[in-house]
Amino acid sequence: MNKQVNIRVEDLEGAVTYPTDAFLSREYLEAEKHLLWPRVWQMAERVEDIPAVGDWFTYNVADDSIIVIRVAEGTAPGAIKAFHNVCPHRGRQLVDTPPGVHSVRGHNRKSFVCGFHGWTFNALGENTYILDPQDWGGALNPECTSLSPVKLDVWGGWIFINMDLDAEPLLDFLGDAARILSHFEFEKMRYKWRKWTVYPCNWKTGLEAFMEPYHVAGTHTQLLAYGDYYAYSKAYGMHGVSGFDQRDPQFKMSESSTVTRAGKGEDPRLSTYQLIRENYETLNYAASTETLVNAASRLVAELPEGTPAGDVIAHWMKSAKADDAARGVIWPEIPPEILAEAGLAWHVFPNMSVLQGVTFALCYRSRPFGDDPNQCIFESYAIERYPEGGEPRTEWEESEPTAENWGSVLAQDFSNMAWVQRGMKSHGFRGPLPNPHQERKVTNFHRNLADIMGRGTPSVIARKPETQPA
Ligand code: FES
Ligand SMILES: [Fe+2]
Repeated sequence: MNKQVNIRVEDLEGAVTYPTDAFLSREYLEAEKHLLWPRVWQMAERVEDIPAVGDWFTYNVADDSIIVIRVAEGTAPGAIKAFHNVCPHRGRQLVDTPPGVHSVRGHNRKSFVCGFHGWTFNALGENTYILDPQDWGGALNPECTSLSPVKLDVWGGWIFINMDLDAEPLLDFLGDAARILSHFEFEKMRYKWRKWTVYPCNWKTGLEAFMEPYHVAGTHTQLLAYGDYYAYSKAYGMHGVSGFDQRDPQFKMSESSTVTRAGKGEDPRLSTYQLIRENYETLNYAASTETLVNAASRLVAELPEGTPAGDVIAHWMKSAKADDAARGVIWPEIPPEILAEAGLAWHVFPNMSVLQGVTFALCYRSRPFGDDPNQCIFESYAIERYPEGGEPRTEWEESEPTAENWGSVLAQDFSNMAWVQRGMKSHGFRGPLPNPHQERKVTNFHRNLADIMGRGTPSVIARKPETQPA
């Protein structure tokens, strides 16, 4: 993972392009199976899904399947274990994972018995039964008969796994993403809903449809009525962030980079409410919370006409925070400079996307489906902070990519993804030309991907123009 990156972060400030192999080539997909997925930290599931000892699930990615199981209560390291889902005898999957099944799950598991010759393993992955072990003449030992371990760590309420036992610690890998986002206390949030579908595009095409607000003006035109979507984006090592920006530097203010920002127009009391309500309702009740929408609905009644946008936001946040406190949802204290740095949405390498608010987050994940570069498993889920025990019961729902199922905004995103996948195959396509300011999260993804894959390095078309001395 620590190879020399052959294009620098600074190069992304200029115009770059990169080949389309990563999206289209079967050979590239095969290479990912060896070079990417077995060597990188990736989110397997939320901790809340396995609260009791013996709760377990499979996490499947490309040709690999991992069993994750809770073996002790609490959050101490080692309370959750992960193993490769394969019997060390002759390689049968211990738990069958048919294609098209999101994940296999269960409770109260004390052992795994292989269906082929009956070898048995306890929840720690240790072998507890072999038929006729004497036949091996002493060659069998715990090393060769136990399940192959997988590295596991927990951050933000997410269980991450890494098949590379020599991988750097999770927190080192997350780096600035963890330094900044830990303040949001995602571990105190719980699933609001979760959906998945098999979608006809590469997993990167799907993920990249949610990496930048540059597409809002072209795709989600209706959203422009209440807010502008000019964005900055920034690389943080392996990961990247985007946030709202102002085209005119004199209007820049830190709050404008987050999802809770003022609406545009004459009266920010009204437009802020319109903006947040529109986002809430059309993003499947995920890009905000009911508390924030209700508090925004009172802005006109509670504030005098002419209140400046900054004061409107401050009042809105204060009253929403008090409303939440009254129902037992205590907001984390996030320093203003962290809130500003956190921006709107993060890409956590390789396949995780998080659009965060103080009490909620809207997240995406995508993975390859089968051996076809033109298909992926696409998932979206919302998490939110609830009063103790007030969270809904949810599970992964397979949902056709329609507006009824996912909300009208996501349906608009879906309406691009398959056609990007198709369009990139055109002999007339000269390669992506991402926006150097607004889509740097995407180019940084390809910079890091190329480093790991040893191919596809973005090339510089033009350096960033030198700023003229004043
Ligand atoms: S393959 Fe599992 S016991 Fe033989
Ligand atoms: Fe979108």
